[in-house]
Amino acid sequence: MTSITIDKAARTFGSVRAVDGISLDVRDGEFFTLLGPSGCGKTTLLRMVAGFCPLDEGRILFGDARIDTLPAHKRNTGMVFQNYAVFPNMKVGDNVAYGLRARNVSKADTERRVEAALKLVQLGGYGTRWPYQLSGGQLQRVAIARAIVIEPHVLLLDEPLSNLDAKLRVEMRSEIRRIQKMLGITVLYVTHDQEEALSMSDRIAVMRSGHVEQCAEPKVIYEQPATAFVANFVGTTNLLKGTVVTRTGNDVEVKVGTTGIKADAHGAAAAVGQGVVLSLRPEALRLVASGEAPPPGWSTLVGTLGETEYLGALTRFQVKVADGTVLQLMSLVPPQGDAQVTIACDPSRVVVLPEDA
Ligand SMILES: Nc1ncnc2c1ncn2[C@@H]1O[C@H](COP(=O)(O)OP(=O)(O)OP(=O)(O)O)[C@@H](O)[C@H]1O
Ligand SMILES: [Mg+2]
Repeated sequence: MTSITIDKAARTFGSVRAVDGISLDVRDGEFFTLLGPSGCGKTTLLRMVAGFCPLDEGRILFGDARIDTLPAHKRNTGMVFQNYAVFPNMKVGDNVAYGLRARNVSKADTERRVEAALKLVQLGGYGTRWPYQLSGGQLQRVAIARAIVIEPHVLLLDEPLSNLDAKLRVEMRSEIRRIQKMLGITVLYVTHDQEEALSMSDRIAVMRSGHVEQCAEPKVIYEQPATAFVANFVGTTNLLKGTVVTRTGNDVEVKVGTTGIKADAHGAAAAVGQGVVLSLRPEALRLVASGEAPPPGWSTLVGTLGETEYLGALTRFQVKVADGTVLQLMSLVPPQGDAQVTIACDPSRVVVLPEDA
């Protein structure tokens, strides 16, 4: 159990600045996620913490102690990888015991700790099985047991669920969370799956080409994204360019094409005349039935109905507005009737963002 301080860490491979001077503070006992698209530097940063990738610049501390200068085996981290890396030629118990043997723990202690770790991942009694006798989810739990049996200060997980099928992935999310809470351990978790990040994390750092774009709690990342990149990467959204035309307190009106869209500024410093990007999530948009008025205070857009995608509980559909922009919408009931539709925008859910760099 410990806090992690990453202080201006940087690493370059050839011409690629994989990690471009990142600073992050992970709290003691926190579940902290690095989220971002492929190649943004998540694994490199995690490997820096684990000790498998030397830093070009910067420092990493566990608590008050600098650790980036220590070899990997002296950092007391447990690591779980994407491809579960369970040794196929060792029984489950021996797999879990591996790290303890390397640390010269006595036989009796090893047996006790292996069984306790297996119990924690709900595989009590599986020690004498062979890996080929286990399912994917069970194998991944063996990998977690092997990482936690050494009682690490920090648990590092790099896309540990990406080899599992969709249902198991969802089950394992709460399983990992449960284990983390039981142990009260600090977790640094890597994923490119935004739903996984939102559902599991205390805080998320959204990464983009080697830097952190935003670091905040899941709800803030989703509802108050700091940039258009974050709004677009986390969840579905519609990004529209416009110009601020009026501002009253925190409420602004943004002209998009010929339409005025009202928005709560969400604290963004949006000045009149400034170019901005609006983020309209599907849940900020609602179809207005013909003959009905939009909710008071909501702006409206007119368009034509495009493709409809039935998703079971929800229907996703598109509306093409006057300037040709296609908006993504969602509703519980499939849209019916006219090709011509009116969309209302909830001003409390419209987010005003700076124009993308
Ligand atoms: N050992 C290496 N040698 C050269 N380039 C590397 C090396 N490791 C990583 N890179 C490059 O650094 C960048 C970041 O890679 P990294 O593996 O950290 O990304 P990632 O965010 O984990 O991506 P993914 O989601 O695909 O796993 C990429 O451009 C990658 O090609
Ligand atoms: Mg990676």
